[in-house]
This record gives sequence, C-alpha cells and structure tokens, in this order.
Amino acid sequence: MTRRVLLAANWKMFKTVPAALAFGRELLRRYDVDAYAMIDVMIFPTALALWPLGQRFAGSPIKIGAQNLDLGTEGAMTGALSGYLLREAGAEYVLVGHSERRQHFAEGDELVAAKVQAAISAHLHPILCVGETAEEREREETRAVMQRQIGSAVQGLTPQDAGKLTVAYEPVWAIGSGKVPTAHDANGVAAAIRRQFAERFSSEVADNLRILYGGSVSPNNIREFVEASDIDGALVGGASLKLETMLAMMASLTH
Ligand code: PGA
Repeated sequence: MTRRVLLAANWKMFKTVPAALAFGRELLRRYDVDAYAMIDVMIFPTALALWPLGQRFAGSPIKIGAQNLDLGTEGAMTGALSGYLLREAGAEYVLVGHSERRQHFAEGDELVAAKVQAAISAHLHPILCVGETAEEREREETRAVMQRQIGSAVQGLTPQDAGKLTVAYEPVWAIGSGKVPTAHDANGVAAAIRRQFAERFSSEVADNLRILYGGSVSPNNIREFVEASDIDGALVGGASLKLETMLAMMASLTH
C-alpha cells in the first residue's frame, strides 16, 4: 500500500480571477514535472476562478477543487452552487465541512453529511475537514469529536463511496493562528481516524485513505507532519497564497 502525498492549497476568499490566473501561469512555468512526480498538487480557488484556472491547468498534473458545494443539482436556488455545476466547471475535488463553514455559516454535522453525499453523487471527491476547538482539546475531547464528526459524515456511505474520500484533520485552534500540534500528536489523531475507517468500512478502505494535516502549515513544518506514518499530506491556507512558499513546500516534500 502506498498513499501518494497530497499538497492541497485552500485559497479561501482570496485572489481575484486575474491574480489566480497569474499565480497559475507562474506555478506551471516553474512546475518541475519530474521532481514533483511523487506528489499531488491541488488548488482550491474561489468558485469564480475555478473554470479559468482549470482551463489553464488542463493537461498538467495540477488538479483543481471547490471550497464548498450546495445541495441539489440545478434549480431555483438563488446564489447556490451545486456539485454538478462545480464539476462541469472543472472541479474534481471539493472541501466539505471546513471549520470556517461550520463556524461562520452554521454548517452542522447533518448538513456536512448531506454535502458528502451530494459531492459523491456529483462525481466529486470530497475532502472531509474535521477538527476540535481549543475548548474541546482542553477538555481532552479530541478523539470523541473525531468520532462524532466522521461517524456522522460517513454514515450513509458504502465502502466504495468511502474510498473516494480524503480526510483533513485540522484542529480549529491551529488554523491561521501560527500554533500547531506536535507532529506526534497530529499523527495520533490521524491514526485514530484511520482505525475508525477500518472499523466502519474495511482495513482496505482505511489503508488507502489519505489523511491530511491542516492548520498553520508552512515550509518550515510541512515535512515533519507529512513524514509521520499516518499523515499523507497537508491542507494549507495562508502559506499557499504566495508562490514562493508554495514552491518551498513542494520542494520540501520531494527532498
Ligand atoms: P492555514 O489554513 O494554513 O492558514 O492555517 C488552513 C485551512 O484552513 O485549511
């Protein structure tokens, strides 16, 4: 079993379409296909930049995803973007349950589970984001929170569907804060997540599942996390917005 390393860049509500395209052009120009053959690089731009950036990356190894999806396919749903529309615009992946969606858009476990289903129905690969708050960590509830968030999100899935998932473990207190857990701690949580998948589905699904760490990842710490046995990559916000730090992270994953 070999799980490929994944570096996923979550651009959040940053970068105009021209800025996203300029970044994409430079990333492609400096993309050393041989050096990066062992890693997967994915960009999650704003929904506006999805289509043009996807066009720019066509034929390259760089993959593109959406940061969120709404339920349904097409219909009278003002302002909504379905998985179907996102996939037709070039997305192959979609973040589901990011803590900023849970916090600022009141997305609960039930909606997150429905979005996982909707993503799979739309032939998108969900990246399910989970993580405990600082208070939950203080109360030593991290494992219980993972059990609840993941248990609920994968409830209706077949083992085959579960095989399409990636999980991103992102402690809420580590996102954008400069604070990080030790790689040892994060790996312990990732290992528990993998056990949960083994118990719920099968050891094969669990062995193939890619688990990312996210929260204040930078060129200085990425390698330590990804070298841990149960962590297969990183979901990166702030440090993915600058081309130089993005390239530095890619380089440190390949050396
Ligand atoms: P950060 O964000 O790297 O800026 O901490 C990570 C995330 O929210 O996915």
